[in-house]
Amino acid sequence: MKKMTVVLVILGLLALAPAAVSTQIDLGVPSKTGIVASSSDLAADVGASVLGRGGNAVDAAVATAFAMAVTSPSNGNIGGGGFMIVRLPDGTATTFDYREVAPGKATPTMYLNAQGEIEVSRIHQGYVAPGVPGTVRGLAMAHKKFGRLPWKDVVMPAVALAGKGFTLSKSLASQLNSEIKGRTDNNGRQGPSMKPFPASVAAYGKPGGGDWAEGDTIVLGDLSKTLAAIATDGPDVFYKGWIADRIAEDMAAHGGLITKQDLATYAAKERAPITGSFYGYDIITMPPSSSGGVALVEMLNMLEALNLQKETRQSVRAIHLIVEAQRRAYLDRARFLGDTDFVQVPIDRLTSKAHAKALISTILPDKASSSEELGKDILSSGKLPADEPLETTHFSVVDKDGMAATNTFTLEGGFGSHVVIKGTGMILNNEMGDFNRKPGTTNTTGTIGTPANVIAPGKRMLSSMTPVIIAKNGKLVMVTGSPGGRTIINTVLHVVLGVTAWNLTGREAVDAPRWDHEWMPDRVTFENNALSDTAVAQLKAMGYDIVMRGEQGSAQSVWMHPQTGTAFGIADMRSPDSKASKGGS
Ligand code: GLY
Repeated sequence: MKKMTVVLVILGLLALAPAAVSTQIDLGVPSKTGIVASSSDLAADVGASVLGRGGNAVDAAVATAFAMAVTSPSNGNIGGGGFMIVRLPDGTATTFDYREVAPGKATPTMYLNAQGEIEVSRIHQGYVAPGVPGTVRGLAMAHKKFGRLPWKDVVMPAVALAGKGFTLSKSLASQLNSEIKGRTDNNGRQGPSMKPFPASVAAYGKPGGGDWAEGDTIVLGDLSKTLAAIATDGPDVFYKGWIADRIAEDMAAHGGLITKQDLATYAAKERAPITGSFYGYDIITMPPSSSGGVALVEMLNMLEALNLQKETRQSVRAIHLIVEAQRRAYLDRARFLGDTDFVQVPIDRLTSKAHAKALISTILPDKASSSEELGKDILSSGKLPADEPLETTHFSVVDKDGMAATNTFTLEGGFGSHVVIKGTGMILNNEMGDFNRKPGTTNTTGTIGTPANVIAPGKRMLSSMTPVIIAKNGKLVMVTGSPGGRTIINTVLHVVLGVTAWNLTGREAVDAPRWDHEWMPDRVTFENNALSDTAVAQLKAMGYDIVMRGEQGSAQSVWMHPQTGTAFGIADMRSPDSKASKGGS
């Protein structure tokens, strides 16, 4: 008994380096007239200008998304998919699922070679990698329901950015140069890039050749024409008109799968949010086809039942409890989650407080659990590494009336499939990689092959994107989300814990160090060497495999000051071009 007390006291000491002391408290960019936080400064400014012209949060979100399809081509898109949650000032909320779907010709084993192994080259780039894009339908659906400004007015700023051109940041110039020239890994192997695709190089290469440099102006003429058609003719031109024709022609010419029929039948879905409660806060988040909402609510339920709040923030004991909650939620994600239009997912059970109680009963006070032991019912043999890219992008909006929109969207990997559809300037996603590509193989490296997320025509691939809105007693508290593949759910968890359990400001919660455990591989990755040597030693002694990594996620957020009600836009500077831009005056 005495020994256990000593262990718990040691585990309760601060394990992470404290944030730098500042004499001025930075809460973010304040606004009473609306705010947009995005990883693209130019797109944040577009959203803010729409707020300034009398647009509401959804108008600004739609305008920001279209602008990001121009200014942030590695992840902003019209050729991909995503999720948006909208909360109205009266507290009601809804979600828009515009995730891509598998083409009609897709099959469960389409990415396996003759030896039954996954051919990653066909997932990472090229014409067989994309799902049927959902972004244009989804943005149009949200706008039709909530938008105040005409559709054309929210799409046209993107048309102008692409047509007149915009100035390249250092980061984007460097990304484009690697895309055009190609990338080689340490063993001299070519990585995925635009290099094999002439239409992509023509669209994004520097005219006349050579490298892009910071400060250069890039003009995307075909993309401007495509966006102008969407602005003028509406979403049907993309799904049933000349843009659909171009996509289907290019696909047919290069062995791709997407047909005119796939595009014509694509439907965005409005769905009821997943809701949870955590220490009196309301959590509003995304249902499947995202796994994020279910997993987030599971983790919060476990941490509330473990009474996390009584622990010292960033202590070894708090880290231990959070990692164990992550481990168990990600195991449920692997076991159960998939597109609910195709498979039954026990959402009510998974998000219940009773389920959380059952899950925490296996957590040991001073020892790491075994992922292998907990998940032996779904594990098979093999060591094929899971490869889920960390790209994607998130932005958050609050308008002057308190309407909130949180949007995460993606092409999957940076620049998606690297394929630009000829004559459109549009980059297509490689989202098919988010399906379980090797049915029946779930292993210790993180490959998942459970039935719920196996490929089927028309099915949405499981996502980790986790846009979230937090409210308390009917009042908006925070709007957030993040990129980062499977790490997304854990990044969002940290931000939510920051402003709820730990009582931090939004700025502090976004800046705080993050860590990630995904059930498999059974290891914890920590950001930025934030963990002290003593803490590493303690966690290792408890049985944890600890890995230090670079930055995790990019949580572009809006936080509402609890006393004044002022909105603070919080640019997460883990992404260098981020900005919180104030709307109106
Ligand atoms: N492609 C990232 C995600 O959907 O989770």
